[in-house]
Amino acid sequence: MLLSIITPTYNEALNIEKFIRGIEKAIKIKNYEIIFVDDNSIDKTYEVIKRIAKKKQNIRCLRRVGRRGLSSAVIEGCLSSSSDLLLIMDADLQHDEKKIPIMLKKLISENLDLVIASRFLDSKKTEGLSKYRNFLSNVANKISNKISGANLSDPMSGFFLIKRKVFDNIAPNLSGIGFKILLDIFSSCKGKVKFAEVHFEFKKRKYGDSKLDSLVIWEYLLLLWDCKFGKIVPAKFLSFCLIGGSGVFVHLLVLYILINAEFNFLYAQTFSTLTAMTTNFFLNNILTYRDNRKKGIDAFKSLIIFYITCGIGASANIGISNLLFIGNIKGISGIWYISGFLGAFVGAVWNFLMSSLITWRQK
Ligand code: GDD
Ligand code: MN
Repeated sequence: MLLSIITPTYNEALNIEKFIRGIEKAIKIKNYEIIFVDDNSIDKTYEVIKRIAKKKQNIRCLRRVGRRGLSSAVIEGCLSSSSDLLLIMDADLQHDEKKIPIMLKKLISENLDLVIASRFLDSKKTEGLSKYRNFLSNVANKISNKISGANLSDPMSGFFLIKRKVFDNIAPNLSGIGFKILLDIFSSCKGKVKFAEVHFEFKKRKYGDSKLDSLVIWEYLLLLWDCKFGKIVPAKFLSFCLIGGSGVFVHLLVLYILINAEFNFLYAQTFSTLTAMTTNFFLNNILTYRDNRKKGIDAFKSLIIFYITCGIGASANIGISNLLFIGNIKGISGIWYISGFLGAFVGAVWNFLMSSLITWRQK
């Protein structure tokens, strides 16, 4: 197979048929396939795809259960391919399929590793994005170029063609957070890819909604962190610790209110600890473990597990810091802030590991 088109989908049932027809019209070569990666869409997009795939051998659907995330979907789709070339493209008809032959020709004739379809090569604005998204895009582009060291007109593009060999080499270094796969690729390959850009008009969406919500900025910041410092402190651990810090604040605030309302200290302390654990759980559920967010009864079960694992973490924290404090280690024992910090650090690492391995375990 010469080409695999990798298309992430989430609730795109209404776009699939038109998308496939568009590709069939635009591409004249025979040896290509389309691999959809669907995250168990509520509107059952995977069923629409599989119905078509029954009749057409060059169409496949990889259905992921209990997972969410555009980047990780793209990465797994790419890894499942054995073609020479990979084309990453959205399913919602916003990307112009007529550019595909131009991209293919450019990559082959100029012997490039990567060809990016850019929304901003000829102009700074695009019709398909709101004023707010256009503005955010421009700011984010500048930062991304600084971080990745490449000078791209559209480092956030989700429409590009890459040699599979190049992708396979980079794959182990990809972070997979969020939806900025191209930025991830550039940060991981440290400017070693030969690339070119072509312009395309980003169309307005007709069916379905954009999946990128207000939290994309958070995901974007985490990805930037992962690209720059991820090898030292993983972005998820950073997010977990920041939320832990916010928990201390919640705890003290609730304690202050209850003590002022003349509650007994033990009750007040117990209740504020539980409140802080609960806000920590929900913040982590939305921010740190977005790709595996728990809902409904699952969220409730996970909350209980979170209470238990964090309770063990807290005991370890107190036990270790106390041993260090009363022990005989030069430079640590007897110094309250060093013993205290080390205890808290061990507790945080424990809580993070247990949360990743048990509470929000990937299915
Ligand atoms: N499997 C999977 N899982 N697919 C997803 C997910 C997910 O969690 N979220 C979104 N998708 C799919 C959508 O179904 C669509 O085919 C494609 O990814 C793009 O998602 P949109 O929700 O349409 O994104 P957008 O149009 O707002 O964003 C576009 O611009 C971004 C830059 O601003 C996309 O082209 C992005 O790739 C691009 O980074
Ligand atoms: Mn879109």
